[in-house]
Amino acid sequence: MSKNIKGLVLITGTTSGVGLNTLKPLLRYGWEVIAVNRSNEKAIKIAEEFLTKEEIKNVHFIEIDLSNLDEVRKGCDQILERFKKPINSLICNAAVYKPRLKRPERSPQGFENSMAVNHFGHFLMISLLIKNILSSEREIFLNGKSTFFKPRITVLGTVTANYSELGGRIPIPAPADLGDLSGFKNGFLSPISMANGKKFKPGKAYKDSKLCNMVTVQELSKRYPKEKIIINSLYPGCVADTKLFRDTPWLFRFLFPIFQKFVTRGYVSQRLAGERVAEVATYKKYAKSAVHWSWGNRQKNWKKSFFSEVVKKNS
Ligand SMILES: NC(=O)c1ccc[n+]([C@@H]2O[C@H](COP(=O)([O-])OP(=O)(O)OC[C@H]3O[C@@H](n4cnc5c(N)ncnc54)[C@H](OP(=O)(O)O)[C@@H]3O)[C@@H](O)[C@H]2O)c1
Repeated sequence: MSKNIKGLVLITGTTSGVGLNTLKPLLRYGWEVIAVNRSNEKAIKIAEEFLTKEEIKNVHFIEIDLSNLDEVRKGCDQILERFKKPINSLICNAAVYKPRLKRPERSPQGFENSMAVNHFGHFLMISLLIKNILSSEREIFLNGKSTFFKPRITVLGTVTANYSELGGRIPIPAPADLGDLSGFKNGFLSPISMANGKKFKPGKAYKDSKLCNMVTVQELSKRYPKEKIIINSLYPGCVADTKLFRDTPWLFRFLFPIFQKFVTRGYVSQRLAGERVAEVATYKKYAKSAVHWSWGNRQKNWKKSFFSEVVKKNS
């Protein structure tokens, strides 16, 4: 076995925050990375500032706007054509959060945009790439040694979408709740903007989309045997100072990290969140399917990850 066979990992949304900070550990472990972003120009510029010249040689940039399902199809075709070796690990990270919208923004296909980007785009990407990912089981060179790597899909979830955790029960604007899915069943086009078909609540739209991400992990794990592929999700902690919060009021952006650092103690740095994502997506320790990994609401240096049950709200 040649020592040079690098594994191939795909991650979405590497221009800032958790995704950007996941790049370094992935490259340090020895991965070749496909970075999927809606602007290659922006992604390359930021990566050039953040990574060394040596590191960036192992990053391939692919442009896909996840809100546009046609672009997801075209981009996945391009990936399947361009890379001769299959993808070993897929990390669904990109997301938008727009809690101040008065009216829903619409994706090119007419869907409420945070659901389109956070869930539909990733769902379609997984569907189009899963055959390729399933075929990737082989030995790769990882962390300095030849390692047998089982295919893996890792999805970023969040505490605010998980009713089993305290953060999932915050009533403002409302806990995540997909209801009877009537919004989806009825086509999810204007005037429908919520999965449960009810009134548009922008903060809840984000939570609902993340709950869909986490439910997808649970469902996929039932459909694909754990002997063939590991499918998991994680809550890396509250990374309260990322650009995810760019559309919140400035006072919230100022106070939220302080509150998370000193009151809830849920705060984690972007660097630590990136390390956690890279580990969950690639370490043997996390090779357990259907698991939602969490470090809980209160962060402590010594604190270890644990399985967190994903619970939906009973409406
Ligand atoms: N921050 C937290 O406290 C926290 C906690 C739990 C889970 N998470 C999850 O962690 C993940 C990363 O969040 P973050 O905090 O790092 O946010 P972030 O800094 O805002 O990063 C989001 C990334 O998604 C990309 N993106 C947005 N819209 C896109 C689109 N239409 N197509 C392709 N890429 C798009 C952004 O690219 P552009 O530069 O083009 O906008 C950016 O690279 C998310 O899934 C989030 O739900 C975050």
